[in-house]
Amino acid sequence: MQSITYLAIIVRGSRCICCASANFPYSLGTRHFSHKEQCEEEELLRYIDILTAKLGKGSSEEQTLHTLSNDHACDAIPLSQNLVHSLLHRYKDDWKSALGVFRWASSRSSFRNSPESYDMMVDILGRMKALDKLKDFLEEMHEGGLVTMNTVAKAMRRLVGAGQWVDAVRIFDDLQTLGLEKNTVSMNLLLDTLCKEKFVEQARKIFLELKQHIAPDAHTFNIFIHGWCKVFRVDEAHWTIQEMKGYGFRPCVISYSTIIRCCCQEGNFSRVYELLDEMQAQGCSPNVITYTTVMSALAKAEKFKEALEVPERMRSSGCRPDTLFFNSFIYTLGRAGRLDDAAYVFKVEMPKAGVAPNTSTYNSMISMFFHYAEEKRAFEILKEMENSGDCKPDAQTYHPLIKFCFKTGKIDGVLDEILKDMTNKQHLGLDLSTYTLLIHGLCREDRCNWAFSLFEEMINQDIIPSYRTCRLLLDEVKQKNMHQAAEKIEDLMKKL
Ligand SMILES: *[C@@H]1O[C@H](CO)[C@@H](O)[C@H](O)[C@H]1NC(C)=O
Ligand SMILES: *[C@@H]1O[C@H](CO)[C@@H](O)[C@H](O)[C@H]1NC(C)=O
Repeated sequence: MQSITYLAIIVRGSRCICCASANFPYSLGTRHFSHKEQCEEEELLRYIDILTAKLGKGSSEEQTLHTLSNDHACDAIPLSQNLVHSLLHRYKDDWKSALGVFRWASSRSSFRNSPESYDMMVDILGRMKALDKLKDFLEEMHEGGLVTMNTVAKAMRRLVGAGQWVDAVRIFDDLQTLGLEKNTVSMNLLLDTLCKEKFVEQARKIFLELKQHIAPDAHTFNIFIHGWCKVFRVDEAHWTIQEMKGYGFRPCVISYSTIIRCCCQEGNFSRVYELLDEMQAQGCSPNVITYTTVMSALAKAEKFKEALEVPERMRSSGCRPDTLFFNSFIYTLGRAGRLDDAAYVFKVEMPKAGVAPNTSTYNSMISMFFHYAEEKRAFEILKEMENSGDCKPDAQTYHPLIKFCFKTGKIDGVLDEILKDMTNKQHLGLDLSTYTLLIHGLCREDRCNWAFSLFEEMINQDIIPSYRTCRLLLDEVKQKNMHQAAEKIEDLMKKL
């Protein structure tokens, strides 16, 4: 113990003069503290490097344990929960190494794995479908009295995710031997896990047995409503509302909205209207999310006239709009080609309702105007946005602008101005989608020198282009006999 602490101090001292001086009582300012934290972080990363370098890839649980236990450098590393978590995270796709690391940590005197690490291990084993190991591990945890509801939730989720719902039910049946209770909460957990993975019929059967001993609550029924909707069995979902009432629970906005969303996905709007009426009749008024869902779905189905009746309906029910609703409303008006109405909503109705626009609102307006080749109006909105305090443009804001340049062939002097604006004036880093848009556009315009320089720029920032982008650019540079460029692209493609 003594020597470990000592080593930690030495290592830290040798890492950073500044941190060593943190031991002086006089220099413990907050700035200093964050610097100290930063150094600890670096130290952690260094330990991880040492350990992972030792481990290599794909060794067995025993091999990993053996390697780590018999290595002086590893043995000298002071263990912390943080370090173990980081390692488990690192090996989340390699349960053998993860379990080896876990065993090694357990074997160190003066260290105990935390409950979080145990649960992480459960998750890793479940995710990798090492289900026999998982069951052994749970047994072992149980012997140590370490199984919590959180552990059970993780194990069940992974088992059901692997299709082994029977095993998940078995865990539930054994809850009492694991020292946990079978009650409404744990029952709901089981049912929810089953329903989320579309085992709603199985959940139903289990519920019919369990309900004789365990009382359901409103949440139980909402779980079933979700479950039935997930498999598009709207009749059963709707019927569950009746059942819920039979048990004396009031269906809530969420119960109904779930079914409405499902009907929207199915495109059964007559049923949507029936449900909206039913909600109102039940004294369970739809909320702004419900209305937004319906309006967006109608717009997506290109039923613009009906979509634009939703705001009217909402207003008459006294429901207040929010930003998301207005964004969807503006988008719908745009899709319907009603630019002036969209502009009116943006300029007049939103301020009147006291709802602030956000970046997405501006982006919708800009994109709409460009789509209808009303670039003058688009630029006005962009200018307004650039000058507004609250809604800064993001990379998305400039996409319609960039597309417009390509469409109209305004490349020289215009496109570079836009990019300069983005980076110098708005301090926006170009992201993957922006680089992709630019490279594809420039290739089409026969500007592969420029495209390639952007390609290099993105690589330098560790933004990895898609295979398709590489392929496209490669064909272009080959045509231009840019051999070095071609080699670079091919090198990257090998790694993809
Ligand atoms: C739409 O829902 C109604 C029930 O409200 C049902 O009778 C009808 O068959 C459904 N239509 C489609 C296309 O699923
Ligand atoms: C704008 O607001 C909506 C609703 O609150 C939100 O969903 C969306 O992510 C916001 N967009 C941005 C860019 O902040």
